[in-house]
Amino acid sequence: MNGTAYFKEPIACTEEERRGFAHLVRLGFEGSDDGLPGRIRDARWLAFYYVAGGTLAAVAALKTPNGMYREDVFNKATARVSAADYEFELGWVFVVPAHRGKRIAENLCRQLLARVPTSGVFATTRPDNVSMIRILRALDFARVGKPYPRRNEQLVLFLRSCPAFVASLPGA
Ligand SMILES: CC(C)(COP(=O)(O)OP(=O)(O)OC[C@H]1O[C@@H](n2cnc3c(N)ncnc32)[C@H](O)[C@@H]1OP(=O)(O)O)[C@@H](O)C(=O)NCCC(=O)NCCS
Repeated sequence: MNGTAYFKEPIACTEEERRGFAHLVRLGFEGSDDGLPGRIRDARWLAFYYVAGGTLAAVAALKTPNGMYREDVFNKATARVSAADYEFELGWVFVVPAHRGKRIAENLCRQLLARVPTSGVFATTRPDNVSMIRILRALDFARVGKPYPRRNEQLVLFLRSCPAFVASLPGA
């Protein structure tokens, strides 16, 4: 990675940083609606990757989706684990096309995950998103359940339980 990565809690971001983050999310994800600025403010950590000239080239986040959304995703995917144990969602992972294939996304995701050592994390992606699936597997996520429809696409659920979290479970 030749650029510079920053990790910030949303409250510590400037308005310009939050706007730049939202801009890349809208480029990467269809259906990112008017509620996006609020969901960005509610995230736990935002990752920014700037290249020469101060251009924002990649973003990623650890989000804190509400319990209803998590239940819905886990039910649709028929995951046989409790959504309550997966507080964080790794998402909004987007690298502008000119900077792909340089491990930028993997590095941002790895450093985000290091910030929440005690909880389960989930992620969803399209089953044909080869590079995102390689990243998730490299970061110890495992695919669970079955593909489920959302809007006009299929998604699959990936879970990551860090060893400390698993060890804290009753009977572990
Ligand atoms: C998915 C995305 C974030 C990956 O970003 P990136 O910085 O290019 O990813 P990386 O450089 O870290 O590459 C990750 C892995 O995918 C591999 N990869 C990349 N493109 C690939 C392709 N077309 N076919 C197979 N493997 C591919 C890389 O070789 C690497 O695997 P390796 O570590 O085993 O060598 C980027 O393509 C993107 O922004 N896509 C659009 C938004 C998106 O789909 N986000 C994820 C939604 S959940």
